[in-house]
Amino acid sequence: MKIRQNDIGHSFSTSKKRFLHKSTIHNMFTTELEYPYWQRTVSLLAQRYGLDTKETFEEAAFAQKGINTDFFIELLHLFNTESELPIEQFKTFPIPIILDYLQKTHHYYLNKKLLEIEQSISNLRNQLPENHLLPFLENFFVWIKENLTFHIRMEEEQLFPHILALYLKVKDKKGFSIQQFIENHADTVELQLSEVKKHIVRAQSSVSEIFPFRVLLKQLDEFEKDLRIHAKIEDEVLIPISLELELTNK
Ligand SMILES: [Fe+2]
Ligand SMILES: [Fe+2]
Repeated sequence: MKIRQNDIGHSFSTSKKRFLHKSTIHNMFTTELEYPYWQRTVSLLAQRYGLDTKETFEEAAFAQKGINTDFFIELLHLFNTESELPIEQFKTFPIPIILDYLQKTHHYYLNKKLLEIEQSISNLRNQLPENHLLPFLENFFVWIKENLTFHIRMEEEQLFPHILALYLKVKDKKGFSIQQFIENHADTVELQLSEVKKHIVRAQSSVSEIFPFRVLLKQLDEFEKDLRIHAKIEDEVLIPISLELELTNK
């Protein structure tokens, strides 16, 4: 998606600006802001934006990649604290910035997250070929891949182009409405992940039996949280502002 320069903004606060010179992206958002525990989150977000966290932080480079630094910092806060989504704050960002994040995240799920989970299940198959949970995990993987792909395709092919057309005030192909989307949109993958984690833990009789599953459990945990934040931004920020636009454009 093409993001216009005036959608990006340059409003780092003065306190943050003094860290800009010669600081890596990683340090910029972790050590020097005294949030060392942000390390994982910075890397999670950087991956989907195609950033190398060892590179020197330059706001111009962020802007060139279409990244709004304030939006990036809001996301970091959200991922780290999982506090209430600051809905009104998020609603102040231009729609293309929000859509861009959601699209990049979709891509990251399909091309990175799912592959990591698949790899962990395959490692388990090599380590514990007789384990009774393997058929369940393999079926679950097929299910999640199909559902997520279908869900994402629908959003990318119908919802997002419709919202972009509303934002740009251009005519969109008829037959799609936000209201209709709300009625059919469900976040089943996230719920299913939570059930699968519980099932893995329940199915093992001792902690040592759970041990080989720890990598997979951690990945599912992280994915569930990521999906939860994604769904919140979609359902509580993007959909309400788009619905308003749809009503005013009528
Ligand atoms: Fe989505
Ligand atoms: Fe969704």
